[in-house]
Amino acid sequence: MSLRLGDEAPDFTADTTDGKINFHEYLGDGWGVLFSHPKDFTPVCTTELGEVARLKGEFEKRNTKVVGLSVDSVESHKGWVGDIKETQGHELNFPLIGDEDRKVANLYDMIHPNANDTLTVRSVFIIGPDKKVKLIITYPASTGRNFQEILRVIDSLQLTANYSVSTPVNWNDGDDVIIAPAINDEDAKTKFPKGFKTLKPYLRLTPQPNK
Ligand code: BEZ
Repeated sequence: MSLRLGDEAPDFTADTTDGKINFHEYLGDGWGVLFSHPKDFTPVCTTELGEVARLKGEFEKRNTKVVGLSVDSVESHKGWVGDIKETQGHELNFPLIGDEDRKVANLYDMIHPNANDTLTVRSVFIIGPDKKVKLIITYPASTGRNFQEILRVIDSLQLTANYSVSTPVNWNDGDDVIIAPAINDEDAKTKFPKGFKTLKPYLRLTPQPNK
């Protein structure tokens, strides 16, 4: 059965471009992003890996480790990294799993046979410090991901894990947030001292509480 939000992220040990890692151990107490690529030496994947390398500092600011995966070998990945640096201007700076036997791809249901029966789709899993799956997104091989969106979701997940709020449509870090309907107005006044606007009894906006 495929993974669902709230499930424990399956643990594994795998060979990567940074040596063998145990996934849960590698993530430690922080957040994680596990994302798959269909194949080495392919154009969209090359741009994505360069972009994630460029954004490494942004992930670090969010206490988040990124781990990539492709069903080719670590040897093949190592041959590819030069192209990523040359064409994208950024050196691979996070582990890329070599998953030739599809062990991890199968654990995370990254192969969708009606799309392609041997290559992974572009899966993204965000994993919390409790090792539970917090987000799953699946893209087709032909569409490169927007990693600003992944950072945006991490901001929302980290905020909503600590405050009784949710984030509205197109929210970005620093924008107003929604007070959880379970909090009554009386409690909201003490929990959100910056005040709040009531558009409807169930739709109350307050400045982002951790800013
Ligand atoms: C790509 O990364 O460009 C790609 C990989 C597999 C299938 C289609 C596109």
